[in-house]
Amino acid sequence: MRWVLAATLPVIMTVAFGKWRGMNPRILWYRASTSLRAMTAIYTLPEQDVRDFLASYELFEQERVSGKNDFENTVNYYKVLNHLCAVGEVEKMYIPPVVDPNLNIFDNQLLWEEAMADSLDLTPGSRVLDLGCGRGRVAHHVASYSGARVTGINIDSTQIRMAQDYANITGLLGSQLSFVHGNFNDPLPFPDETFDALYQVQVLTYTVDPLKLFREMYRILKPGAKIAFLDWVQLPGFNSTDKLHLELLKKVKPLLGAVWTPKPSDFTVPLREAGFQVLSSQEASITGGQYQLIQKAQSFFETAGTLLRVLAKIRLIPRHFVTLWDRLTQDGEAFVEADKLGLFTTSWQIIAQKPGIATEDKLQIVQPN
Ligand SMILES: *[C@@H]1O[C@H](CO)[C@@H](O)[C@H](O)[C@H]1NC(C)=O
Ligand SMILES: *[C@@H]1O[C@H](CO)[C@@H](O)[C@H](O)[C@H]1NC(C)=O
Repeated sequence: MRWVLAATLPVIMTVAFGKWRGMNPRILWYRASTSLRAMTAIYTLPEQDVRDFLASYELFEQERVSGKNDFENTVNYYKVLNHLCAVGEVEKMYIPPVVDPNLNIFDNQLLWEEAMADSLDLTPGSRVLDLGCGRGRVAHHVASYSGARVTGINIDSTQIRMAQDYANITGLLGSQLSFVHGNFNDPLPFPDETFDALYQVQVLTYTVDPLKLFREMYRILKPGAKIAFLDWVQLPGFNSTDKLHLELLKKVKPLLGAVWTPKPSDFTVPLREAGFQVLSSQEASITGGQYQLIQKAQSFFETAGTLLRVLAKIRLIPRHFVTLWDRLTQDGEAFVEADKLGLFTTSWQIIAQKPGIATEDKLQIVQPN
């Protein structure tokens, strides 16, 4: 039934991207083929995976992840979510800071990732760790843009394989990209002082013990190495005894895949305790909020949902397409409302540094004699 998906694709794409004209043909091809592959994956998804995905949402009723059951739910959630998100423009599963309000989510992600690579001082030969790398597309862009060698780690082996496949197809596997299957709540599987930099994009909500994790980061980084976090936090406007605020939080958490909703100080305090110097801790969206970006994505998900409903009704696609889509997009308007009230953000950026002077070996790679 691939033809059904292929026939649906131009409609989905038009809704998703708004306009075709002026789009870089390489990016257009990338996104069309990604979208088609994602729809094929959802089409052929085993029923058990669908059930496990729906059950995994119990994770977001908790305040923190703590043990084995939570890790299993995390895997069950992401191994389906990554396909659902890749149909539209959130393949990388994060809402970026607004860098240019005239651009869409995908283009803002690219701009953001480049700015992040610059803030980490990445140069050809730098060794970088991507914590919670998902499908490895952020790592791919950071590596291509900066020339750095990026290693990704993720708890979901399905996504690790997808990251490896894509890196292989694009010729960067082994040379600039490598991926490791693992849970970052365990000791990190790297020797001391391995990396020149580290970044993570919206993954610390799955942290069991931040101080323990930050000490591990400190151990595997070289002196002088920088780290960049982009993450989901609560803002001073959030009042934990206000009924409306609590209701919005309850709706937004499953929408964004958030378990823990920390304050920025829940990161900066243990970072300092682990030995890092915190260089900055601030909202990274130039507009101060992200709801315009969310609204763009929302209208895509709604229109695509209507289309999928029709296709399921005439039995061209399985019913679970609609079930999954509805679960994914439930309470989208709650984020917009919470964002306007200034309660939370997914684009809080922290830059920190391990004290010390960068070692010579990196400089030698950059400027060979
Ligand atoms: C990379 O791609 C080649 C050609 O398709 C394949 O033979 C090889 O097994 C792949 N390597 C990995 C590690 O996936
Ligand atoms: C928080 O909300 C409660 C309940 O609505 C209210 O009584 C209290 O004044 C609020 N606190 C602040 C600091 O706004």
